[in-house]
Amino acid sequence: MNHTVDGAWAAKPKLREFARRADAMPTTVGVSRHVFATIPLPVGIELNLKLEGLTPGGSIKDKAAKEMLEAAISSGAITSGSIILESTSGNLGIALARRCAELGLPFHAVIDPNASLDAVGAMRAAGADITLVDKPDAQGGFLGTRLEKVHELCARDARYYWTDQYGNPANPRAHEKTTAPEIADSFEHIDSIYIGFGTGGTGSGVGRFMKRHRPNTKIIAIDAEGSVTFGGKPGKRHIPGLGTSQRPTNCDVTVIDDLQMVSEADAIVACRWLAKRRGLLLGGSTGSVIAGTVQHRRRRMTDQAAVCVGISPDSGEKYLSTIFNDRWVLEHFGSDPIVRGASEELEV
Ligand SMILES: Cc1ncc(COP(=O)(O)O)c(C=O)c1O
Repeated sequence: MNHTVDGAWAAKPKLREFARRADAMPTTVGVSRHVFATIPLPVGIELNLKLEGLTPGGSIKDKAAKEMLEAAISSGAITSGSIILESTSGNLGIALARRCAELGLPFHAVIDPNASLDAVGAMRAAGADITLVDKPDAQGGFLGTRLEKVHELCARDARYYWTDQYGNPANPRAHEKTTAPEIADSFEHIDSIYIGFGTGGTGSGVGRFMKRHRPNTKIIAIDAEGSVTFGGKPGKRHIPGLGTSQRPTNCDVTVIDDLQMVSEADAIVACRWLAKRRGLLLGGSTGSVIAGTVQHRRRRMTDQAAVCVGISPDSGEKYLSTIFNDRWVLEHFGSDPIVRGASEELEV
């Protein structure tokens, strides 16, 4: 990004300081570029799990936040007087909050009851304002209600700049520019990439790159049961990250070769198994990717020793009071995921 401090920027000291900060934004999102954990799975393959939780913001959303803010600063849509606004269940909020703190911009997050307390605490620590909406929308999720609140705030105050992760092309572009080439650099040949879909930014960006540069690599979308993104029946979901109650504009179905829906109970089993048996504390959507890979390969792919990559969007610390907490699991899912998570069902 290139912001000169000439012209409009130089006219006012506040703008000049903002331009200087924007220029100096550290490229901290590059640290996890080539870190993969190799997990043998009981379907004849090893899943090479790209650990995106190793960024300073703790998730893959650091990349989308950086690209969306840089694009809007470059176009002039964000100025030093802007308030950055986003509807977020946690990770993008943390990523935007810390980027905005670096830039000296205020950040306002609209969250729902599925956001983890730790994620909200991290946003607050970086100075974010938080608005909670708790009325489910017509599909039983909260996306519709969160977006209503965003539109209301934008109509009320022209200083708001909504990053719009569900429709902003800079979100998938971040992954086309970073996540996808990082994966391609690490493996000469890849049979399948398993990617969880929330906004669709990660999957669509990685998919577009692979269709151009690795056309034989299959993109397998993982979504949560209860999500309507791929036309499923709406249902209650408790784990943030995957799934929507409205299909997002950023979900490019043309780059998806196959779809695997995963229950939240199976995602919890995989998370707890990974922690107990592999010592890896990873987030809920990583559990969905692991469970989804096993289920998809059992259903569709019988070739052994295929090269498979999965994306792990975040680490597990934010889920200690939910997925890794027996009381929370018992309350929402019963004892089955606890028993299965301690069993050998995912052992090779
Ligand atoms: C933990 C986690 N997993 C997966 C996703 C989905 O990624 P995307 O929105 O790029 O589809 C998100 C998005 O917020 C997330 O926070």
